[in-house]
Amino acid sequence: MMIDIRTALKQGMADLRAAEVSSHTLAAEVLLMHALGRDRAWMYSHHEEILDPATTQKYFQLIGRRAAGQPTQYLTGHQEFWGLDFEVTPAVLIPRPETEHVMEVALARLGERGLKIHMDTGLPREALQVADIGTGSGCLAVALACELPHAEIIATDSSAAALEIARRNAARNRVAERIRFIEADLLALPGNERTPEPFFDLIVSNPPYIADSDEASLQREVRDHEPHAALFAGPTGTEIYERLVAEARDQLRDRGILVLELGYNSAEPVRAMFDATSTAWTNVSIAMDLAGIPRILAAERAR
Ligand SMILES: C[S@@+](CC[C@H](N)C(=O)[O-])C[C@H]1O[C@@H](n2cnc3c(N)ncnc32)[C@H](O)[C@@H]1O
Repeated sequence: MMIDIRTALKQGMADLRAAEVSSHTLAAEVLLMHALGRDRAWMYSHHEEILDPATTQKYFQLIGRRAAGQPTQYLTGHQEFWGLDFEVTPAVLIPRPETEHVMEVALARLGERGLKIHMDTGLPREALQVADIGTGSGCLAVALACELPHAEIIATDSSAAALEIARRNAARNRVAERIRFIEADLLALPGNERTPEPFFDLIVSNPPYIADSDEASLQREVRDHEPHAALFAGPTGTEIYERLVAEARDQLRDRGILVLELGYNSAEPVRAMFDATSTAWTNVSIAMDLAGIPRILAAERAR
């Protein structure tokens, strides 16, 4: 088939619209850029150029897979998070823009305390000990390592396949030497990584938070393609929070900070976990996302 770039793009958009793909225009553009190995500016300034047969075939295969529900990011293998490039495969959750609020809240809390950088000299002071629980693609651990040059980070996940991608993302963003990726159940670190005393200055997590019974209400892209272990927490959706809050309480130093992403409808039950152990925590706050949904809970350990 002899076809120019503009026609291919229009056809791809029409196919995706017919398949009721959301943001079909953007998806068709991104997939054609990927098939061409070119950026948007090049593509639009060469719209009359004829595609070679191999590129045409590759592009319409990608359009077919997207129309069948596969997320664009798994097709291109990339997602941006916090201005950084991350490799993504079906072994990891695709990093979401909402999760950038975890970064904002964590950095704001550290900044308020002068822990982000040394206040007088701008130089790092003693190492900050950070944990990212359920690291997936490694997006939070890697972005924190980039923002906090004096941080030493432990990133855990129960999925060995996810940890392999996270390690590659740390290397891609040149922070591999400051992140230890560990296969573990939440914060249950293996013996050689465990310390007798509370150790962490900051713990962040975007845990699985969907109730098993909500599976049918998810978009097909999420339900059929993203890893179930990254999505579902159990019958109520708050099961992982219960364990995580208890483990963070044991492992945060005095004034250590916990920052959690909240799922839809989970603000109240998760907040109640902090109220129930109120002598252990101070400064509990909830921040909204851009849609006005309570999205991030932060709290400080009081010992
Ligand atoms: C919602 S995803 C978040 C991934 C990444 N942090 C992000 O924000 O995009 C949750 C991650 O937690 C991991 N996970 C689920 N249960 C876990 C457990 N019990 N212990 C450690 N990790 C777990 C999943 O494999 C998944 O990678």
